[in-house]
Amino acid sequence: MIFRGSRQSLGVSALLAVGLLVGFASAAQAEEPVANKQRLEQGRALADSVCSNCHLVSGDQTKAVADVPSFQEIADQPGQTEGAIMARIAIPKHPMPVIPITKNELEDVAAYIMSLRTE
Ligand code: HEC
Repeated sequence: MIFRGSRQSLGVSALLAVGLLVGFASAAQAEEPVANKQRLEQGRALADSVCSNCHLVSGDQTKAVADVPSFQEIADQPGQTEGAIMARIAIPKHPMPVIPITKNELEDVAAYIMSLRTE
């Protein structure tokens, strides 16, 4: 009797949990594409104005500094992540300079770079 009771309540809470998860997932799905698109656009705009002096930041760009990795190459590095990209921008290796951007801009531009990943 006791066992059956607790199993039932487990079943109910599992159902509730699944319902909640589905609810969250669909809410996230409804919001994410817009927010993501905005982030990527902001990241791309920032890259165009701040990074394109040295890096090839998109397929549209034809000229950059030789020996500076293109954003495509950076995105396609094996195991690349947004976090690793942010770290390399926040603490750059010579000759990349320290670039004064906000945390939000850093996240946007890292998300933009990762969006170029082809693998
Ligand atoms: C003055 C030129 C210059 C500017 C401006 C510049 N970079 Fe760089 N960047 C470099 C050079 C040179 C390197 C290669 C250094 C190295 O060996 O990692 C580099 C490396 C990087 C790397 C690491 C690449 C790797 O192989 O892991 C990232 C990420 C990066 N830059 C992002 C950016 C972003 C984002 C911006 C704009 C906000 C930017 N850079 C602006 C010159 C520049």
